[in-house]
Amino acid sequence: MHATTTTLTERRELSAIAYGFIGSKALFAALELDLFTRLDSGRATTEQLCACTSVARNRLQTLLHALTALGLLDHDGAGYANGPAAARWLVRGAPSGFGEYFRLQIGRQIYPALTHLDAGLAGTGAAFDTLAGLLSSPEEAATFTDAQHAGSLGAARALAERIGPAVDGAGRLLDVGGGSGAFSIALCERHPALRATVLDLPAVVEVAGRYRDAAGLSARIDLLAADAVRDPWPADQDVVLLSYLLSAVGDAEIDVVLAKARDCLAPGGLLVVHDFALDDHGAGPTAAALWFLQYVAYHPDTVSFSAGALAERLRGHGFTVLARGELIPGITAALSARSPS
Ligand SMILES: C[S@@+](CC[C@H](N)C(=O)[O-])C[C@H]1O[C@@H](n2cnc3c(N)ncnc32)[C@H](O)[C@@H]1O
Repeated sequence: MHATTTTLTERRELSAIAYGFIGSKALFAALELDLFTRLDSGRATTEQLCACTSVARNRLQTLLHALTALGLLDHDGAGYANGPAAARWLVRGAPSGFGEYFRLQIGRQIYPALTHLDAGLAGTGAAFDTLAGLLSSPEEAATFTDAQHAGSLGAARALAERIGPAVDGAGRLLDVGGGSGAFSIALCERHPALRATVLDLPAVVEVAGRYRDAAGLSARIDLLAADAVRDPWPADQDVVLLSYLLSAVGDAEIDVVLAKARDCLAPGGLLVVHDFALDDHGAGPTAAALWFLQYVAYHPDTVSFSAGALAERLRGHGFTVLARGELIPGITAALSARSPS
């Protein structure tokens, strides 16, 4: 685990935290202008970038200076070019592209939601009265889910690879809070006999249908519009997957979800949990700790947890934990467990 236990001593380190949001917004603004994609074909002058973005020279120049100072762009006498990280991850349509995730989910939804963090901490209000509140709007659900798909594909493939042997021979997978269905798609592609159901809120499963059909899996992935906490789940599942669901719901709802997972699994069925995870001391990793914190702006009853604490919670619901380990370095963990036989 990538524990962050260093405490700060320098004022400039405090400044980096305090001003960090300005850099975040510079990145999101550049993504909205599609600057990195425009620079994919080669170096461009400020004038050329003004012409294609229609932003006034003085304002665009200031943004270009900021992006260069942040290390996203490189500047020389012939103009601006993408730096290596921007070229690899921020160009729209690149195989490893991550820009749409940053632009849509982080820039358009989480960034504004965080202005509600103080009210969330005080318990006097939340950004959208839970994530489900935000996702009840078809437009917001599409923005969130398209972004999540871009953000989850890599993790989905990595998880499918890791749990492959445990899923071999399984017939039915229930992907609860499955979002775009990225994990169901990756698992169905790897296991030709597997059929999946993506359970998520109505506006989200609409979007999942698009990704399922584009992957050629319409006959093997069903969509179920439901509230994971309040509505019944289909029974006799061989595998239940909870990816980024437990961090998004309230503390008491975690127990409701785990009990439903146990009850809908066939005896000895496989539960797979993939979520943000703190190290065992809770001192980091930084990215995981901050991801848990942003949920407080949405839902006052969310909690943060380590993989070890989650494993204990699974045992409390009768599961036998098989394995746990980091999936996205410094951010998430994956746990697998068997339901009681
Ligand atoms: C961060 S997204 C993760 C999506 C997907 N599992 C993935 O890993 O790519 C969390 C998902 O949980 C869903 N969700 C949150 N609360 C839910 C609830 N009460 N019922 C059903 N889905 C819910 C959201 O709609 C969203 O699609």
